[in-house]
Amino acid sequence: MKKTLLIIYILLFSFFFANGQEPNYEESKVPQYVLPDPLKMENGESVDSKTQWVENRRPEILHLFETHIYGKAPERPMDIRCEILSENKYALGNMATRKEIALYFTDSNEHYMTILMYIPNKRAGAVPLFFGLNFKGNHSICEDPDITESVIRMEPRKGESEIRPHAFKLGDASSRWPVEMLIANGYGLATVYSGDIDPDYDDGFQNGVHPLFYKSGQTRPEPNEWGTLATWAWGLSCAMDYFETDEDIDATKVAVFGHSRHGKAALWAGAIDQRFAMVISNDSGCGGAALSRRKYGETSRTINTTFPHWFCENFKQYNDKENELPVDQHQLIALMAPRLVYIASAVEDRWADPKGEFLSGVHATPVYELFGLTGLPVRDMPAVNQPVHTGYIGYHVRAGYHDINLYDWQQFVKFANKHFK
Ligand code: GCU
Repeated sequence: MKKTLLIIYILLFSFFFANGQEPNYEESKVPQYVLPDPLKMENGESVDSKTQWVENRRPEILHLFETHIYGKAPERPMDIRCEILSENKYALGNMATRKEIALYFTDSNEHYMTILMYIPNKRAGAVPLFFGLNFKGNHSICEDPDITESVIRMEPRKGESEIRPHAFKLGDASSRWPVEMLIANGYGLATVYSGDIDPDYDDGFQNGVHPLFYKSGQTRPEPNEWGTLATWAWGLSCAMDYFETDEDIDATKVAVFGHSRHGKAALWAGAIDQRFAMVISNDSGCGGAALSRRKYGETSRTINTTFPHWFCENFKQYNDKENELPVDQHQLIALMAPRLVYIASAVEDRWADPKGEFLSGVHATPVYELFGLTGLPVRDMPAVNQPVHTGYIGYHVRAGYHDINLYDWQQFVKFANKHFK
């Protein structure tokens, strides 16, 4: 406990030092801003048909996000090679089939990520799937003793390697992963440890998948090339390549989700890969669902200073210059149209700017309307624990702090049930 408090203090201090200023948590101090119009081309032409959106404006916005914020990822390997490492049809007290699948990034057996998957045994056919990254290893999501322990890779402590054997115990993060509830509701669940794709610390892009794709002589990504979030999103797409081949999964009903930094990655994955039928952002905040121009809580300067490896190098040009960004995050939400998207906030998670997350949904809505769909059906922020599920953009702000808990999951399942069942 003491250690956790100390870490929190150190983090808070580093935010203030990095930023030179305290975060703004007052609505009255949110600056005036004008959001870029999702339905206006960069040359000023207005976009008033689905076709114009799909053929012209969507690619334009995607390219702006790619160049200025997340960075471009290389093409995924064709016919990505996979290997079933284990399969048990009697997992979780016979409720589910557990599989572990290795996905190899290259021809060698050295570089791979492991997908851990649970599929309900009670099923009529292929099942819809929730899929997201985990922070603490596959073995942290539940207490199933047969899960293969992920190799945890973190910033090395003095004189030590980055590999931290047994850093997290079995089931360490189980409060965030209601596996049995999802299985009971007929959903599959799949996860990958994000450190399998790119460990989450700034090492100059040497230890993740980046070096496997550098051009000859290249030692780090170009200013418009993939930061860690884009790398995770790329990994999520690689997994989707596998899901399309697995008969147990209905690949037309895969919801990609993520909490916090993984929520940012899930949103970017949903933007670049339209095979994801639903995209769920939980407390993703700055660089995720929250509008950057509000500068409420975390800002581009703080995030780029504390996590210099998350975005592409170009994004750093917008430190303190949010108004100069060619896009804002409502346009990221709009890139999901006409698919389903769910934005979840927590009222005490002010660092992630719950209102800014909500407003992204509001301002993405005109794009859904172009498709004849309702995006977010309300313009005023709903009360705490009053979810809004009737449009194609779902939203709730729950009581409590930055986390993903059973309440959040119950809402995702209700929202998915409406469309996936
Ligand atoms: C930090 C960071 C956030 C991020 C969060 C998380 O708080 O500033 O941007 O979302 O970590 O991933 O838990």
